[in-house]
Amino acid sequence: MRYAHIVGWGKALPQRIMTNDDLARIVDTSDAWIRERTGIVERRIAGPHETTATLAIAAAKEALEVAGLSGHQVDLIIVATATPEHIFPSTASLVQDALGADHAGAFDLSAACSGFVYALSMGADAIKAGSAETVLVIGAETLSRIVNWSDRSTCVLFGDGAGAVVLQAREQPGGVMATLLRSDGSGAELLILPAGGSKMPITPEALAQNLHTIKMNGREVYRFASRILDRAAREVIQKAGWNPEQVDLFVPHQANLRIIESAARALNIPMDKVFCNIQSYGNTSAASIPIALAEAAATGRLRPGDRVVMVGFGGGLTWAAAAVQWSEPRAFHRKGRTWRQLGYSLAGLRSRARRLLRHVEDRIFGSLDPALSNGKSSTPANRPRPQEQSTTSEQKR
Ligand SMILES: CC(C)(COP(=O)(O)OP(=O)(O)OC[C@H]1O[C@@H](n2cnc3c(N)ncnc32)[C@H](O)[C@@H]1OP(=O)(O)O)[C@@H](O)C(=O)NCCC(=O)NCCS
Repeated sequence: MRYAHIVGWGKALPQRIMTNDDLARIVDTSDAWIRERTGIVERRIAGPHETTATLAIAAAKEALEVAGLSGHQVDLIIVATATPEHIFPSTASLVQDALGADHAGAFDLSAACSGFVYALSMGADAIKAGSAETVLVIGAETLSRIVNWSDRSTCVLFGDGAGAVVLQAREQPGGVMATLLRSDGSGAELLILPAGGSKMPITPEALAQNLHTIKMNGREVYRFASRILDRAAREVIQKAGWNPEQVDLFVPHQANLRIIESAARALNIPMDKVFCNIQSYGNTSAASIPIALAEAAATGRLRPGDRVVMVGFGGGLTWAAAAVQWSEPRAFHRKGRTWRQLGYSLAGLRSRARRLLRHVEDRIFGSLDPALSNGKSSTPANRPRPQEQSTTSEQKR
């Protein structure tokens, strides 16, 4: 039997720190209100040159470093994000290119703040099914780019960052032992980015109404999260065949300290078994759980053999849980590190060379449509539009 073990982890956070007092200078709020209602003290905000992809790449490199692997050895890259670099191409493809992961498939996964646990489940299933040996699972966000900085009820909550884990196939039992994925689309409008998709493209009207920024019914989302957090944890613990007392660390999505504390009470888990870093980063959506895992592992809160339960929840509405037995990282090789750095530099050069080659090919061979290259037929401007075509066919009938 194959098991999907977590053998590497990493995180990346923007340098810039925005404190509650900084926010109080932008909107009508206060450090006391934000701390008391959410537990957040500060958050990180991406700089002009930082994007979801750059953060995802940095976290992925750190995770590969811990795993002692190079991009070349990765079979699949999944980036869970609600703030992709573009609608397409996927952010995962950009990560694949930067890592020189030439043998990897790559796709983005959209499940809002539950995205990382969904992606972990998909990655583990790919390994268990035998279609992949090594999977990079990343949660990455730049929520600061979709926040309405004049809406005090949402802008105080979110932050930017990325976290990543490397999953690898092993025969020995451990790793991702059970997962649970759920959705309730009847609550879709409770947490939504209304404009920018196919239903409502971005128009001057949409921009004027700030519909390209996060809209949230905070109270309803709070009620939903408080209901499902302990229930999902209980279900996945049972699915893994464990007891709640056997759990060494509970890593919930970092959305609100009050929600986390009430779930811990309901589960009868003491707070020293609950990982919280919301005070430093706010809600980083799909990135919050992998950032927490990387910090827990780096600070010794997670040790090989530990049983960890993670629960994500958010827009969709969606929620997801995973029960994982923590593994040893692969051996760390300094020598390998130099080779990996060289590999990333070569990947950058290769990517640039491929772009150049495409440009040269285009210059030499021109258009593939002979009619177009002869200059005889319709240019895009004088081709009939679909509407005109259908009128013509109706007229013929
Ligand atoms: C957003 C949240 C912190 C608001 O806390 P709350 O106790 O529910 O606060 P309310 O929305 O009831 O608002 C209470 C008052 O505070 C005000 N308020 C809202 N945001 C404020 C802010 N940043 N600073 C000061 N006052 C604020 C409201 O305007 C309201 O004032 P009013 O009573 O005069 O109308 C809370 O609802 C929450 O955490 N919800 C879940 C959000 C979440 O986790 N989303 C992501 C899920 S992945």
